[in-house]
Amino acid sequence: MCGIVGYAGNRNARNVIVTGLRRLEYRGYDSAGIAELNSDNSAISLTRAVGKISDLATRLEQHPEESTPATLAVGHTRWATHGAPTENNAHPHMSQNGAFALVHNGIIENYLTLRQHLIQQGFSFNSETDSEVIVHLIEQCYEGDLTRAVAAALEQLQGTYGIAVISSHHPDTIVAARKGSPIVVGVCPTETIVASDISAIVQHTNQVIFLNDGDIVTATGEDIDIVSAANVPVARETTHIDWDVGEIEKGGYEHFMLKEIHEQPEAISNATRGRLLPKDGTTKLSGMQMTPADLAHIDRLLIAACGTSLYAGMVGEYLFEDFADISTEVHQAAEFRYRNPIIERDTCLIAISQSGETADTLAAVREAIRKGADVLGICNVVGSTIAREAGHGVYLHAGPEIGVASTKAFTCQVAVLALMAITAGRTRRLSLNAGTAMVREIERLPDLVRAVITQEEKIKQIAKNYAKAEDFFFLGRGYMYPAALEGALKLKEISYIHAEGYHAAELKHGPIALLCPEVPVVGLVPDIQGKDKTISNLQECAARKSPVIAIATEGDKEIEQHCNDVIYVPRCAEFLSPIPVVVAEQIFAYYIARERGCAIDQPRNLAKSVTVE
Ligand code: F6R
Repeated sequence: MCGIVGYAGNRNARNVIVTGLRRLEYRGYDSAGIAELNSDNSAISLTRAVGKISDLATRLEQHPEESTPATLAVGHTRWATHGAPTENNAHPHMSQNGAFALVHNGIIENYLTLRQHLIQQGFSFNSETDSEVIVHLIEQCYEGDLTRAVAAALEQLQGTYGIAVISSHHPDTIVAARKGSPIVVGVCPTETIVASDISAIVQHTNQVIFLNDGDIVTATGEDIDIVSAANVPVARETTHIDWDVGEIEKGGYEHFMLKEIHEQPEAISNATRGRLLPKDGTTKLSGMQMTPADLAHIDRLLIAACGTSLYAGMVGEYLFEDFADISTEVHQAAEFRYRNPIIERDTCLIAISQSGETADTLAAVREAIRKGADVLGICNVVGSTIAREAGHGVYLHAGPEIGVASTKAFTCQVAVLALMAITAGRTRRLSLNAGTAMVREIERLPDLVRAVITQEEKIKQIAKNYAKAEDFFFLGRGYMYPAALEGALKLKEISYIHAEGYHAAELKHGPIALLCPEVPVVGLVPDIQGKDKTISNLQECAARKSPVIAIATEGDKEIEQHCNDVIYVPRCAEFLSPIPVVVAEQIFAYYIARERGCAIDQPRNLAKSVTVE
């Protein structure tokens, strides 16, 4: 969602902020802005624009920098929640006296009451946002100490925030704070960069501090002090991030999504490296911090996640039930805390989140902890909130995922879930031989994915033929059911084609009424259990004149009789079959969206990390 970058140091702050904001573009936004402290420290100048960072850059060119460039600034990319994407609603917001500028991510639930109150006290508002109240409160609470003023303002807020504030009264200081919305501090010898996301920082430093909820950081170029909400100094450890700048650039690809599709063989190798023990027929996941006895004790597993991560979780449900005999339920994270999830002794919750910041998944983690469950996280972003709050879990090591459409995170999540299921299965019923065979299959995964990627040109040609369709169905059963849901999600989010993932058997319970020549059906029919039944369902579709595109196992010539087009994927064990099939779906969706001229890396209305409910 929205992005924050703040800078205090001795370099040109505008350059650092604009470059940082570009790094955050992938999160999705509709306007952007920057507040810079003038070199004589007399005033803060504000530049904002609706649209892209390039629009902001054009505006900035119209306000050439002073001969001595600003060394203190905050910037923001806004994804509209309260109020339309207009220049006035864009951040930063200024206090009435012009001495404070603020950027905010999150939602202030009691802003209407606070706004009314401030208006009665003579403050006037320039925006419709919930955020603007914060900067007026800071002005109202200021008595010479910026950190204390911020703390006093934050005390009055209900809701979530990640904020960064500068003031003309404190020309070398930036104050930032978080509750429910991440803030990371980049630690450099003579400067400090604060941001909502490490992508804006890694170009400057790999040493970062993740703030905890309630923390307030006061930073200059030289010092970083962190206090809790109660104004007690707290020590937060510095974490080394092993991403490099190359990883967050496109590297010659037209889109991040395509780059990340191509990175999957390497990403899966990284996710499984050092974790496979073929001779012992098991895997080693140190981050889980669970002994075989702990694993053997798990009675029930709950999985909570959103979107693509939810569909990876659904594959996990099959894996844990098939190989470890653990009864597993997958929950939409958004529902978890509003129902009464039954958590008994020996219930374990696995929270899956690429970003580790998804608000609903985080809330499910907190609810499960509150009810006494053991909570494991499967996250990609190191040091993210879910990774930290879950206490233990497994990192994907997939590298940064910048494209809004999740690709390599899904395949790595499924790979890691397979590793977990094998480990749990070995403490229950999987024999050494069965475990070894499964681990060997996982070792083949990077090559399997490579083989799908070599079909790219063929998939692209097929995709072009269907790019004008406005409705699609994706059908599968068993392990192919979550793959159908994921295929439909990929297509709809980047191409804006209405697509539904359905269980192949459910189609005739209603949706079959929609089939006609204008509605293509993608049938997921690799050589796994239930394939023949799905083929029968595809015949029902063809009988209604829907064009059928099959995703099938290499060498399956018979399938060609039942469909208009086939995308072949290499033969692999059933439990891993969602991986090559979903990679084929990703490429298919990508080329349809490209043919339609869509903004693939930043689809309309979408944000990479959904930090609001
Ligand atoms: C789809 C997509 C989203 C995310 C969802 C959860 O391509 O990216 O559906 O999967 O918002 O995000 P994380 O995994 O970061 O919790």
